[in-house]
Amino acid sequence: MAAARGEFSSRFGFLMAASGSAVGLGNIWGFPTNAASNGGAAFLFIYLFLAFTLAYPALMAELIIGRHTRSNAVGALRKLAPTPRVAKLGSVVGFAGILTVTLILSFYSIVSGWMLAWLLNSLASIFGLDAVSSWLTTDAESRNAIFSVVFMALTVIVIRAGVRDGIEKWASRLMPALIVILVLLIGYVLTLEGAMDGLRAYLVPDFSIAMQPGLIISALGQAFFSLSLGVGTMLIYGSYLSSKENLPVVGSLVALLDTGIAFLAGLLILPAMYVALANGVEIFSADGALVAGPGLIVAVLPALFDTMGSAGVFVALAFFVLMTIASLTSSISMLEVPVAYVVETYDAERGKATLMLGAGIALICLLIVYNFSTLFDLVVTITTEYSQPLLGLFFTVFVGWVWKRNGVLEELKKGYAGAEHSLFWKIWPLYIRFVCPIAIAAVYIQLVFF
Ligand code: PHE
Repeated sequence: MAAARGEFSSRFGFLMAASGSAVGLGNIWGFPTNAASNGGAAFLFIYLFLAFTLAYPALMAELIIGRHTRSNAVGALRKLAPTPRVAKLGSVVGFAGILTVTLILSFYSIVSGWMLAWLLNSLASIFGLDAVSSWLTTDAESRNAIFSVVFMALTVIVIRAGVRDGIEKWASRLMPALIVILVLLIGYVLTLEGAMDGLRAYLVPDFSIAMQPGLIISALGQAFFSLSLGVGTMLIYGSYLSSKENLPVVGSLVALLDTGIAFLAGLLILPAMYVALANGVEIFSADGALVAGPGLIVAVLPALFDTMGSAGVFVALAFFVLMTIASLTSSISMLEVPVAYVVETYDAERGKATLMLGAGIALICLLIVYNFSTLFDLVVTITTEYSQPLLGLFFTVFVGWVWKRNGVLEELKKGYAGAEHSLFWKIWPLYIRFVCPIAIAAVYIQLVFF
């Protein structure tokens, strides 16, 4: 007999878990600099528009499939299929989602391992352990191997404990901590010289840059990655959500939390970068754009912390705790996808399944670490740029075209009696049938052919 499925105990628990999945490295190292380099508030505005008109409907598709089928990605899509042929397509899409998220988790763990190493480095500096510090901050294969495995182990520990005692418990502790740390850091950085220039770079709008078609498309891709769409994470979290919950409302809260925290991250990152500039740190790359991604986190910001005197190590500690929390609440949502599949399909014991899958993914991490220059960018590109949007498209097609409209409405009505006459029900079905698939297909075509 299969064990009873887990369920989140409260709306708060679900919101922390789902927004924890959504808020990750992308929100902190990608979004703010992207906004500042691409038209500031104008980019923000377009991003928000896309997040709510295209990413939110797609998020709703995953949540509603999950909650209705109470199943992992493969089982869920099979259950919706009216014929064996469509069920086969469902299996392929579900599987591709599981494979994609597994690969995303393997590169994510490597990067998260860097965050852990830098977190320990701030502790080492507080205690004056210089040799340890220099080992922790030197980019070496051995260090990267150790920390990606340690990070995977943390992810395994949380996921082994299950939906309530693992995911919900930790997300409910870590996400509020993340918000508090973020706000405190913003408060501090805004008092420093140069911070206002950063705010200006972040917030002064320039629509002539932000309206370029290429940019709009990349913003859509970013919104998809940020809301963890297309790979079954939101589907599986939706499958643990109580039937009493009003789906459109909880879905919009998740989207609001994700974009809200991305916006807040900008209030930290841009002022910090311009404070760094005022202190003589280079913040632009060769092509004139602001440094983003790993270079921002492990070069520009540490250089800034070094110029802050004794406060610097504590600011660095808070910052890397923030990054580690953002990573962990995302990585647990990723690992849950294959774990739920194995547990439900093979009736496996959760602890064992988690351990074995975690070990398998750790091996993939090591493979990437030791073949970094060939594999890392390749895995990132294939999973996040090619696979994720395409799978997201299939999820919307399953809800818009495969599943009977009435069935969708019945599921919505469970936690929202007035769903049938709501504005949501007037607009969303059209979006999920036409607008989302066409928009995602446009992103895809632009990516693959141009
Ligand atoms: N949303 C996460 C981030 O912004 C990444 C993620 C992608 C998480 C896919 C789960 C699934 O970093």
